[in-house]
Amino acid sequence: MHNFLPVAYFEGQFRDFNDAKISIATHALHYGTGAFGGLRGIPDPDNNGQILLFRLDRHCQRLSASARLLNYDLPAETIQTIITDFVKKNRPITSFYIRPLVYTSDLGISPRLHNVEKNFFIYGLELGDYLSPEGVTCRISSWYRQEDRSLPLRGKISGAYITSSLAKTEAVESGFDEAILMNSQGKVSEASGMNVFIVRHGQLITPGYDQDILEGITRDSILTLARDLGIEVVERPVDKSELFIAEEVFLSGTAAKITPVRQVESYRLPTQRPLTDHLRQHLTAITEGRDPTYQDWVFRIDI
Ligand SMILES: Cc1ncc(COP(=O)(O)O)c(C=O)c1O
Repeated sequence: MHNFLPVAYFEGQFRDFNDAKISIATHALHYGTGAFGGLRGIPDPDNNGQILLFRLDRHCQRLSASARLLNYDLPAETIQTIITDFVKKNRPITSFYIRPLVYTSDLGISPRLHNVEKNFFIYGLELGDYLSPEGVTCRISSWYRQEDRSLPLRGKISGAYITSSLAKTEAVESGFDEAILMNSQGKVSEASGMNVFIVRHGQLITPGYDQDILEGITRDSILTLARDLGIEVVERPVDKSELFIAEEVFLSGTAAKITPVRQVESYRLPTQRPLTDHLRQHLTAITEGRDPTYQDWVFRIDI
């Protein structure tokens, strides 16, 4: 059972989380016509009464772009103001996750995006580790990542998560922790809710935007950080077999942070992961507001 934050933003107002309810006839529930975000926050470990949100601006921009793909005009600045107020009202005392969702809130049938009422809500929950920080085992999914010609993959569209759900359940029910999905070209795309990185010959490699990935904000942060640290970084198509012989493999995402991969299918990966550890230490320091170089990635809210 999750510990939800007590106050939600729903239908234009802040109210008790338990009173924020939608009808069974809600359009988005039937057609997956929503788009969501997911960002993490923590109380400042310095105990100065501030809450730190990681890359709030980028999360709001991505949600606003996702909303546009759903024919809904919701400026990033509006989302940012509401999220800031949401945090002030909840005054979280532990590590937490914010889930904003835009959706077709109309009651009625017929899949469409025009002439249908839309709305926006936010709720939050306490969230520690989403995947084991010790590392996970991954299955290559029999489900393939969608293509942008069928679904706008630049948005975090709710309906797209049927594929993630199928892949995750298939992986877990066959004894693995996570799924890695190939794209329609048979190249590595991403995991059920994370981007994928590998290390080969000391190079940090990840599939590019042309590989049907979600534009992960953690992925972007890792690429910037790695380049700043002088690590050689390459965005290119990755073959499935490279996952089996890589020096290191890790997953990145807001929920998963940097999660090492211990095994892919039956291939066990090395237990020494110097680059993964190095990047993880830096990313943790950045999200905790301890790295002065990346202060602008941390949005501070006085509560
Ligand atoms: C399908 C998918 N890929 C990748 C990611 C990682 O993105 P981010 O780092 O922005 O959380 C997520 C999580 O949001 C996701 O759902």
